[in-house]
Amino acid sequence: MQHELKYIAHDVGLHLFCGPNGSEYLSELHELVDELEDLMSITFDAKWLNIDGIRWLLPASYRLRQRIAAFRDNFKTILMKLIDRSQSDNDESDSVLARFIRDSTDCEISFEEFMDTTIEGLLAPTEGSAATFTYTLILLAQYPHVQSKLRESIQHLGYSFNLNDLHDIKYLDHILSECQRLYPIFMFNAPESASCDMIIDNIFLPKNSMVILDVISLNRNEDVWPQPLVFKPERFESITEEQRKAVHSFGIGRNRRCLGEHMIKAIHKLLVAHIVQRYEIRLPEPIEIIKRKRRPFIYVPEQRLHFIPF
Ligand code: HEM
Repeated sequence: MQHELKYIAHDVGLHLFCGPNGSEYLSELHELVDELEDLMSITFDAKWLNIDGIRWLLPASYRLRQRIAAFRDNFKTILMKLIDRSQSDNDESDSVLARFIRDSTDCEISFEEFMDTTIEGLLAPTEGSAATFTYTLILLAQYPHVQSKLRESIQHLGYSFNLNDLHDIKYLDHILSECQRLYPIFMFNAPESASCDMIIDNIFLPKNSMVILDVISLNRNEDVWPQPLVFKPERFESITEEQRKAVHSFGIGRNRRCLGEHMIKAIHKLLVAHIVQRYEIRLPEPIEIIKRKRRPFIYVPEQRLHFIPF
């Protein structure tokens, strides 16, 4: 199921971003997701890109620029075809693309900006979403009593249920929060500015200093989270104000918060509930900690799992 899991956030997001016709280009878009992952990795590690002069001399720099240009051209071709189709169908849906076409005379968003937003929201977060879903499945295998408790709480739903049926199963939400606390995909948050002069641990931070939080230290701080290395979704049944502020899974506050948060929570609930209802998830052998592999901006798990049908 690695393939399905890998693209699940993209395939759900495709409908929201491009409307129903988007699925006609599914395999080309999957190739673009893979190419973007590769391009982001190379660009992230290519420190020479920032050195004036050198970047004009290195052949690798030209190859990278060519690949980025080809990636953008390919994506642009798909978007243009979808825009033509949407116009000829008189698409009145609520997709981002249909809205862009409808509002294009009134709004100031250029095609380039629309394309960049779609790359950032549709193609880029796919791998991180899959990583988060996979961490949950691994943790459920590592903690069979949590898996059993979840199965008991959804047993009455049978095999055919939808998101509304899961609305009251708060344990599923707590499992996601606890998974993101223990295994966040981002090691650091997006940079923020200090709102006033402040002193933290005897270090003076002037107003407007750029602050980047070390997410792992926050999430595993023993003073804030008792037994921080234990996967215990119950701790989210009632959290203190200090804990609420420490959780940054999808950003904090309103500004720049993750736009995909509600979609990810919904997919996570449905996916995990349907799997747990049908399969027992087991590890091939016991593990202490989950091995993680660094991708350009995130850490993804490396672990095989067994799914035993009931
Ligand atoms: C498990 C999956 C995901 C996680 C853990 C995650 C987490 C985050 C975090 C921590 C931020 C930074 C928030 C901040 O700066 O305060 C962010 C930003 C963002 N996320 Fe996600 N995200 C996920 C999936 C998605 C998906 C599927 C989409 C698209 C539908 C998405 C769209 C965005 C966008 C557009 C931003 C930038 C918002 C802005 O800067 O204004 N994310 N995400």
